[in-house]
Amino acid sequence: MVITRWPRKACTIIRSSGDRSARVRILLASAASIRMPGTGPDLARVGGKYSDAWHVEHMRDPRSVVPASIMPGYPFLDQTLLDTSNISRRMKTLQTIGVPYTEEMIANADKDVVAQISPDTKEAKALLARYPKAQVRKFDGQAAGENVPPTELDAVIAYLQMLGTLVDFTKFDASGPNLR
Ligand code: HEM
Repeated sequence: MVITRWPRKACTIIRSSGDRSARVRILLASAASIRMPGTGPDLARVGGKYSDAWHVEHMRDPRSVVPASIMPGYPFLDQTLLDTSNISRRMKTLQTIGVPYTEEMIANADKDVVAQISPDTKEAKALLARYPKAQVRKFDGQAAGENVPPTELDAVIAYLQMLGTLVDFTKFDASGPNLR
């Protein structure tokens, strides 16, 4: 897990990187590194453990909710729009390495990324038809609305709130067949 050694370095890269999408990729990778040896807790099942509002505060200023935390703050995330310009091409690439995205999912990617933060719209209904377990709401605490673009904070919190929620561990039989 090479990524695990990056968090502190990632903070430096994140701060100095002018490339926004690189920032969000590193952020998600560092968060996804699950275990930050000696620096942070295991995030593998953090999905649903806290409210979106807690994550908004925690990412902005961790010590505002966990006074003893050594985690750096990411106050720029809710002010930065998510770069979704090549999301369908990324999904196409992931499809080639076995991620089961359908052609329909790839064709609707640009719409779906906005639909995920636009609850109660017909686009959100179409998104849920494609991704029944998707969480749909404005995650970053800002007002939802027609064609409001997602922020980087929406992406990070949407990701955190999914971690560990797709597997029903009460039913999971570790001795059973490998389901992959
Ligand atoms: C985008 C990057 C990051 C995300 C999304 C993130 C997310 C989180 C989350 C969700 C928690 C609460 C976990 C729980 O209570 O179960 C947490 C805690 C923590 N994280 Fe991070 N983290 C990030 C980067 C870092 C980095 C770079 C460090 C260290 C250098 C760090 C250190 C910690 C520590 C010490 C805690 C426990 C104290 C606290 O709750 O604040 N985190 N992090």
